Amino acid sequence: MTQRTALVTGGTGGIGSAIIRYLAGQGHRVVTNYRDAAKAETWRQAMAADGIDVTMVPGDVSDPEASEAMIHAIEAQCGPVEILVNNAGITRDSTFHKMNYQQWMDVVNTNLNACFNVTRPVIEGMRARKWGRIVQISSINGQKGQYGQANYAAAKAGMHGFTISLAQENAKFGITVNTVSPGYVGTDMVMAVPEDVRAKIVAQIPVGRLGRPEEIAHAVAFLTGEETSWITGANLAINGGHYMGW
Ligand code: CAA
Repeated sequence: MTQRTALVTGGTGGIGSAIIRYLAGQGHRVVTNYRDAAKAETWRQAMAADGIDVTMVPGDVSDPEASEAMIHAIEAQCGPVEILVNNAGITRDSTFHKMNYQQWMDVVNTNLNACFNVTRPVIEGMRARKWGRIVQISSINGQKGQYGQANYAAAKAGMHGFTISLAQENAKFGITVNTVSPGYVGTDMVMAVPEDVRAKIVAQIPVGRLGRPEEIAHAVAFLTGEETSWITGANLAINGGHYMGW
């Protein structure tokens, strides 16, 4: 197996942590960013206790300058980023008629604009080296929409538009670009949805339960592997059958 440097943004969250564990388990050098130093250190120590050594670099992915500085810091410590997982994401749920501009901008900046901010500083190096794996972590709600998530659904749908354009531009350079669209996974983000609302959502999932973070990580590891060089521009839905697009 070739060891690669893998950056997973928002790695301290539920799905991000699982992706980091999975990629580390495959032997890759794993890196993530953080905004809250104290929280990040607690998380890093917990990962270290499980034998996973994660390089942690400060950086707010919603800020283009901070993101560029973050990539420079990562590459100075770990070498070029060869696998990039644009995973950092937030919600600011509200029905649209009550949504304010800040709720819109926060979600678009962190979920969608971060794809520009983080990918732009790594793409030229990937093209020069003729190898790269980029995965956007989008959402079922970018595919089907969601009551209370006009901001999030717009940003998540935009991420796949980004994927399919980047996939075309970079196919000749050994770079694959794909999207993974998780359904409702049992992370803090989903557990923050009011319990009665969540119960109604789970009732719509044919498999009958929330997803597990490892089930998303498994797909990311698949798409970032050496063997999947002919899968590009795909959107892999992993949602327990909650939304079956084709
Ligand atoms: N379909 C139809 N009607 C719905 C609805 C739905 N899915 N959800 C709520 N409503 C209705 C309610 O029944 C209620 O109707 P009445 O007024 O007739 O009783 C009305 O909407 C409430 O509207 P309000 O604007 O007053 O809503 P609110 O301020 O109480 O909160 C909400 C609305 C923020 C959307 C809340 O329902 C909510 O948090 N919903 C969950 C949204 C969600 O799924 N978020 C996903 C987070 S996890 C994630 O994003 C990860 C991922 O990628 C999957």
